[in-house]
Amino acid sequence: MKSRDEIEAAYRAETMASHAQWERSKSSMPGGMVKGAYWYPPYPIYMESGEGCYLTDLDGRRLVDFANHHTAMILGHSHPDVLAETARWLNAGIGLSAPTTLEAEAAELLCERVPSVDKVRFTNSGTEATLHASRLVRAATGRKKLAKFEGAYHGSHDSLEVSVAPSLQDAGDAASPEAVPEWDGMSRATEDTIVLPYNDPETCALILREHKDEIAAVFYDGKPGTLEIPDDFTRFLRDITAELGILMVMDEVISFRVGYSGYQSLCGVEPDLTTFGKVIGGGLPVGAFGGRADLMDMLDNTRPGSTVYQSGTYSGNPLTLAAGIANMKALTPDAYEHLDALGERLADGLRHAFTTAGVPARVVQRGSLLHSYFLDADTSVSDYRILTEHNGDLAHDLFIATTLEGSFTGKGEFVLSTPMDDGHIDDLIEATERVLVA
Ligand SMILES: Cc1ncc(COP(=O)(O)O)c(C=O)c1O
Repeated sequence: MKSRDEIEAAYRAETMASHAQWERSKSSMPGGMVKGAYWYPPYPIYMESGEGCYLTDLDGRRLVDFANHHTAMILGHSHPDVLAETARWLNAGIGLSAPTTLEAEAAELLCERVPSVDKVRFTNSGTEATLHASRLVRAATGRKKLAKFEGAYHGSHDSLEVSVAPSLQDAGDAASPEAVPEWDGMSRATEDTIVLPYNDPETCALILREHKDEIAAVFYDGKPGTLEIPDDFTRFLRDITAELGILMVMDEVISFRVGYSGYQSLCGVEPDLTTFGKVIGGGLPVGAFGGRADLMDMLDNTRPGSTVYQSGTYSGNPLTLAAGIANMKALTPDAYEHLDALGERLADGLRHAFTTAGVPARVVQRGSLLHSYFLDADTSVSDYRILTEHNGDLAHDLFIATTLEGSFTGKGEFVLSTPMDDGHIDDLIEATERVLVA
C-alpha cells in the first residue's frame, strides 16, 4: 500500500472544493462541522447531493455511498416513493399544530412488523428514544440505575453515554468494568450506570444478580454486523433479565436494518421495550420507542394521575412520518433478501482481498451491515476490549484510498442500500485489492 503522505497528497489534489469549504466552515462552527462524527483527517469531504446509491461531492466527484448516513439510508437517496410522500406533506403545511393520521399509520406499521411492540411513541432522534425509554423504565420499576454494555452507544445523554469507548486503563477489570463518562461535562455516570461486558454470561449474571434491586433496565444493542455476539448471548440476556425482574430495552436504532422485524426477530427474543431510529425515518430526523402496552400506557396522559411525560415539538412530525411510512413500505422481505445477498458477497470478497494481500483482518457481517478490523484473522471480535487491538491507522489509510477509487465507506464500516447491485459490490472489492497491492 502507498504511504500515508502519498495517499493524503492525492486526496488533497482531488478534493480542493471540500478543503475550501472546510476552511470557511471553521470560522462559524467548531471544527467546521455540525458534529464530531463527520471528522476524519486531513478534512472531510463535503457533499452536494445523492441519488440512488451515489453521492456527488463539492468537487463534482461521484462516489458509491457505502456510509449511508450513519446507516440510515437503507433505500439509498431520492427513492421515488419517499420523495413523493414527503412532497405531498410538505405541500400540506409541514407543521399542523395537531395530530395527523400519519402517526397511527406509522405506529401500526412498526407494531405489525415487531411482535414485541404493542404501542409506540415517536421522537426526533435515537438519543431522545433512549432518553425517554430510560425515564419510563425508571418510573415503571422505581429503580434508578441503568445497565449497559461496554462499547455500546445509545445516544448522547448522561446516563447512557458511559463506557462507549473507554481506554483500557480507565475501563478497569474486565470482570467488573468501570462506568466511564464519555466526555467532560456529564453528570452522575457512576451513580446512574452499571457496565456489563459483552458476550460474558457468567460475569453479566454476577453483576446483574448483585445489583438486581437497583437496576431498572438493561439497555442492549446486539451489534449485528459490528461485533460477533452469538444470538445465544442475546437469549441469555432476555432470560436472566426476566428471571431477575429487570426490564430489557433492546436498542435497534441501528440493528433494525438487518431484518424485516429487526435483529430481535433474528435471534428470537422479545424485549420489554425497543428503541428505533435511522431507517424508520426515510432519512429524516427520527426516533421511536415502543413495547409492552402496560409500560407504554404509563405515557397516557389522558389518564388521571399519570406521572410520566414525553414531548417534543417535532416528535412525529408529518414530513418524517410520511418519509418513514414510504420507507418501511418499500422494505419488503424481498428487499432484505437482496441486501443479505449483497452483504454476503461483500464480506466474502473483502475477506479474499485481505487474505490475498497478506493483511490480517476480520470481516464481520450481518445483512446489510459490515465492519472490517485489522487484527489477527482468527480472533473473534466478540467484545469491546478486543477491538482495541484493531489497527486504526491502516483502516484510515484504506478508507481514504478507496474513497479516491470511488467508494465512500464509513471508515471500516460498510453500509448497503437497496439500489446497489453486484457490480457496486465488486467495484469496492476490486478497489480494495488494487489499493492494498499498490
Ligand atoms: C445503537 C444506537 N442507539 C442510539 C443512537 C442515537 O441515535 P441518534 O443519533 O439518532 O440520536 C445511535 C446513533 O448512532 C445508535 O447507533
